[in-house]
Amino acid sequence: MSDSNETLANLAHEQRRFAPPAAFAESANVTEEAYARADADRLAFWEAAAERLDWGQKWDQVLDWSNPPFAKWFTGATINASVNCVDRHVEAGRGDKVALHWVGEPEGDARDITYAQLLDEVSRAANALTELGVRKGDRVAIYMPMIPETVITMLACARLGAPHTVVFGGFSSDALASRIIDCGAKVVVTSDGGYRRGAASALKPAVDEAVAKVDAADGDLAVEHVLVVRRTGQDVAWTERDVWWHDAVDTASAQHTPELHDSEHPLYVMYTSGTTGKPKGILHTTGGYLVGTSYTHWSVFDLKPESDVYWCTADVGWVTGHSYMVYGPLANGATQVLYEGTPDAPHKGRWWEIIEKYGVTIFYTAPTAIRTFMKQGDAIPAKFDLSSIRLLGSVGEPINPEAYVWYRDHIGGAKDGGEGVPIVDTWWQTETGQILISPLPGVTHGKPGSAMRPLPGISADVVDDEARSVGDGEGGYLVLKEPWPAMLRTLWGDDDRFVETYWSRWEGLYFAGDGAKKDDDGDLWVLGRVDDVMNVSGHRLSTTEIESALVSHPSVAEAAVVGAADDMTGQAVVAFVILREAAGDGGAEIETELRNHVGREIGAIAKPRQVMVVPELPKTRSGKIMRRLLKDVAEGREVGDTQTLADASVMDLIKAREAAR
Ligand code: WTA
Repeated sequence: MSDSNETLANLAHEQRRFAPPAAFAESANVTEEAYARADADRLAFWEAAAERLDWGQKWDQVLDWSNPPFAKWFTGATINASVNCVDRHVEAGRGDKVALHWVGEPEGDARDITYAQLLDEVSRAANALTELGVRKGDRVAIYMPMIPETVITMLACARLGAPHTVVFGGFSSDALASRIIDCGAKVVVTSDGGYRRGAASALKPAVDEAVAKVDAADGDLAVEHVLVVRRTGQDVAWTERDVWWHDAVDTASAQHTPELHDSEHPLYVMYTSGTTGKPKGILHTTGGYLVGTSYTHWSVFDLKPESDVYWCTADVGWVTGHSYMVYGPLANGATQVLYEGTPDAPHKGRWWEIIEKYGVTIFYTAPTAIRTFMKQGDAIPAKFDLSSIRLLGSVGEPINPEAYVWYRDHIGGAKDGGEGVPIVDTWWQTETGQILISPLPGVTHGKPGSAMRPLPGISADVVDDEARSVGDGEGGYLVLKEPWPAMLRTLWGDDDRFVETYWSRWEGLYFAGDGAKKDDDGDLWVLGRVDDVMNVSGHRLSTTEIESALVSHPSVAEAAVVGAADDMTGQAVVAFVILREAAGDGGAEIETELRNHVGREIGAIAKPRQVMVVPELPKTRSGKIMRRLLKDVAEGREVGDTQTLADASVMDLIKAREAAR
C-alpha cells in the first residue's frame, strides 16, 4: 500500500463522533432494527425491500445463486423500470409534483418538469426510438450534456427494454467509438453541444467521428441513426442518418403502452476503467438493480419524497448519475435538481445559490469538489442561505477528515455552534450498482473519514491474503461475501473476464480492488485502490489505458503511468515516457503535446498533470515496471527499496532528470 494510504490509515484513530440530531433520528426512515432484521434473514429483508416497487408477475425466487458468480434476483418476475420511475407516480395522483428542477448553465435558463410532463416526454421518446427501429434488446448509446433529454432518453430506452450505454460527454470520439462497437449500439442520441463555463461547446462532431470509425471497423456493425437534440443552436454537419429530436420526438404520440420485462432483462451497460487497457462493460439488469438503488436512496438519504428536494451533483455519464440521479430517486418519486454546468460558472457560489433558490434538503457530492471549495474560502458559501439542508452525502473517493469537518461546518450548518446535519460517506462502485457501505443517517454516530458499516443486507468484510477476516485495528482487502440485488451480472460479452476480474482471487468472494482497514471499533475505512486503477477527482482511470494512449503517439517508445497523491484531486496522473530515438529530446512542446494527445485519445479527464521524459524505466529482472518507485519520484519522496531492480542506477538517472527540470 502506498504512503498516502498509510497516512490515511493513521487517521483511523480519529476520535470525533457525530451523533444524529435527536429530531432527525426520531423521524428517520430506517432505525437500528433494520440491521437485526437483515442479519436474521437477508433474503427476506431484500424481498421486503422489493415491495417498494410495482411488479407485474411476482418472483419465484428472491435469489438464484445456483451458478455462482452469475446471480439472478427476483427470478420469474416482470417489471418495467420506466413505469416504476414515472407512470406509477402519475397514476397515484402525484403527476403535478416536480420531478426535475433543471438548471441550465446560462443563468435564467431553467425548466421545471413534473412527473406528468416526464411521462409525456418519455412516452414520446419511446415512440420516436421505436420509429427509428429500436427494438427490445437493441443497444442505444447516449452522449449528451446534462439536460432533461438525457434522462428522458434513458427512461425511454428502459421502457422499451433497449439497454442504454451512456458515455460521459467529456470522453473522446475514440472512447465513444470503442464503446459503440463493444456493445453494438445501433442508435446514438446526442446534442449539437452543451454549455461549459459560459461558452457553448460542441458534441456532435465527436459523434460524427465516432460513427465514421464504427463504419470503418471490421464487422457488420452500423449506427443506423443519430438522434440530435438542439441545445446550443450551433452549426452542425448533417448526414442522412441524422434526425433532429424536435422533428422525431416532439411530434410523436405521448401515449405509449409499456411492456413488462423479465427481472433479469439488461437495463444498461456502463463502461469503466479496469486494470487492463480495455474498458469493461458493466452490465446491470432491471429488477434487482431497481430494488437496490431505490432502497438505498430511501434509507441512506432518508428521503421523504413529499418534502425533500434532493440534489446529486454527479454527471449522468457516471454510475452515480444512473443510480442516484435517475433510477433510485425517480423510482422513489423524489423532486430533484439537475444542473448542467460547473460549480464555478458564472461565479464560485453557483452551487450554493442553487441550493438557496430551490431549498435543497439533501445534497450529494464528491470530496474533490469539497476540497476545492475549502480552498476558495469560507466566505463564498457564507453568502447564501443553506439552512434548508438536512443531510449531506459524499461519494467517489475517501473523504479526508479535514474536508468532512469543513463540509459539516460550512455547508451542513455546524459552524458557530450549530447542530450540524448528518453526513453519509457512501462507498460503492460502478460494479456494485448501489451503495454498500455507509452510515445510516438516523442511526450511525459518524466519524470523519470512515464509511462506517455495511448497510443492512450487505455482507462486506476486510480480509488478508489468505481470505481470513482481519481483526479490529487491522487492514487488508475489501470483499463482499454474499450477492446483493444491484450487483453487476457480468461484463458485456465477456463472462470469463467477469469471473477472472472479480471472483478469482479467492473462492466465493467478490474482490472490489480497494484496500480497507477496520478500526478499533470495527468501523471500516476505505483506503483506495490496491490495483492499477487511479482515482482522479473521483473518476476512475486505468494506468494501462493511459500508457497505451501515450505509446500510440509517434514520438513515444515506452510509458509508465502512476497515480500520485494530490491535495485537490485525490490522485493525479503522472506519466514517465521514453522517447523514440528519432524524436530526439522531443522539443520544448513535447509535454503539452503528449498531454493533449491523451486528451484526444481518452478525454480531458485523463490528461496527465505532468509528463516526464526519462532515459529508462525502472524494471524488475522479469521486465515488470516498478511503478512504486516512480510514485516515490512523482510524490517527491525518498525513493524506496530498489533491490529488485534489474539495473539500480536507473533511478539515479530519473532523479537527476527530475532535479534538472
Ligand atoms: C472509490 C463510484 C472511499 C473506490 C460510485 C471504488 C470510494 C471506486 C468511495 C469506484 C468512498 C467510491 N470512500 N473510496 N466513499 N466511493 N470510492 O466505479 O476506490 O466510479 O473502488 O464508482 O471509487 O469508482 P466508480
